[in-house]
Amino acid sequence: MRIPFIAGNWKMFKTKKEAVSFAEEFKKLYKGTDVKAAVCAPFTDLEVLVKAFEDTEIKVGAQNMHFADEGAYTGEISLAMLEETGVDFCIVGHSERRQYFGETDETVNLKVKKLLDSRISPIMCLGETLEERDGGKAFEVVKRQLQKGLEGVAPEKAASLVIAYEPVWAIGTGRTATPQQAGEMCAFIRETLIEILGEEAADMVIIQYGGSVKPENASDIMNMDEIDGALVGGASLNPESFMAIIDF
Ligand code: PGA
Repeated sequence: MRIPFIAGNWKMFKTKKEAVSFAEEFKKLYKGTDVKAAVCAPFTDLEVLVKAFEDTEIKVGAQNMHFADEGAYTGEISLAMLEETGVDFCIVGHSERRQYFGETDETVNLKVKKLLDSRISPIMCLGETLEERDGGKAFEVVKRQLQKGLEGVAPEKAASLVIAYEPVWAIGTGRTATPQQAGEMCAFIRETLIEILGEEAADMVIIQYGGSVKPENASDIMNMDEIDGALVGGASLNPESFMAIIDF
């Protein structure tokens, strides 16, 4: 049984003070649900958020990590550094990192493998661009991202893996994939995961949809059989709208 999982992706929003005030508001609204919830925040917010949510079921995640143990990588953050903050998740390969920071399927693969060897679960993002969708290549692109991103991953390590299908054309654009488009791709992702990891391991992987998820469309998306959760950008910045999505 996969438990629905809704994670916020704050991107480069919220200072430490703003994160604390979000947490205070959000805790008042959060009554506990059957849905697992997490907030993936900038590095500087992680410790205060872990502390603020320590008496709740709400989890905290980072948005990136380097694959090396340590070294001369100015500006980067290692797994050991994340582990000491107490986070439970780390986003890997978000399309903004692929587009602006040179993230590739190969670096995504190194990071995912590193995280699957730790107690922090990777949320591996993938999805096609508008050009790729219009060119009829969406399924091919997603399959490649999955195959390369998961190359060398042992099926027994995959239990904590989360996949976020985020069509690039739906991120921050207000243009959501229809529940059918999202469901169709998430079903394809599950089939591909079965090919890569085998049925038993693939069955445990949570598959989220991300891209302009809002309180108004959350239930249509979450009610699709093939979709186990959501990765929410803009609408996770406000405690009321994020709670409304979790309460879909
Ligand atoms: P959005 O972002 O909900 O603002 O479209 C989703 C994401 O980038 O994870």
